Amino acid sequence: MAILKIARLGNPILLQRAAPVMDPLAPEIRRLVTDMIETLADSGGVGLAAPQVHESLRLFIYRVPESRASGAPDDEAQPLSVVINPKIVETSPAMVDDWEGCLSIPGISVRVRRSTRILIHGQDVSGAWFTRKASGFHARVIQHEFDHLEGLLTIGRLTDWRLIGFNEEIARDRPCIEALAVAVNEGGNVA
Ligand code: NI
Repeated sequence: MAILKIARLGNPILLQRAAPVMDPLAPEIRRLVTDMIETLADSGGVGLAAPQVHESLRLFIYRVPESRASGAPDDEAQPLSVVINPKIVETSPAMVDDWEGCLSIPGISVRVRRSTRILIHGQDVSGAWFTRKASGFHARVIQHEFDHLEGLLTIGRLTDWRLIGFNEEIARDRPCIEALAVAVNEGGNVA
């Protein structure tokens, strides 16, 4: 078990498309997953993708804490889950904007538009394929982690430079910045 070093914005490994995991049962994959679980717990985050710990492989882990789950169908709290070789097979046309942090961009949040509902296929740690529906925050976390496997970061989805900020600044005047975010997305000029 080891806490791994997390690659931060500017590290080229975050920009690569990750390679498939050939054998989910391989000892080095088991070890990587174990270390990623320990690293995520240490960080206090909700998700971690292998490229963030310098392994360009198609694998991520995530959880949905009770505090973030709406309780709507497919948006319940989720225990820690390992997803290997994921494919997002369906995405809803309905989208929603919300702030997202990333362990590779510490202290910063970006307003990101995501599908409200998705369907994924993936392998678990035993190599068995599963299908999972997700909505709300659950769907957002999976889409965020999947983006890491494609070499895409939250800032790559930024549609307007005003929709990025330090967490403390965004928290300071949340109603104001929420209004700004809505105005920017409606294409209006913000006075
Ligand atoms: Ni991230």
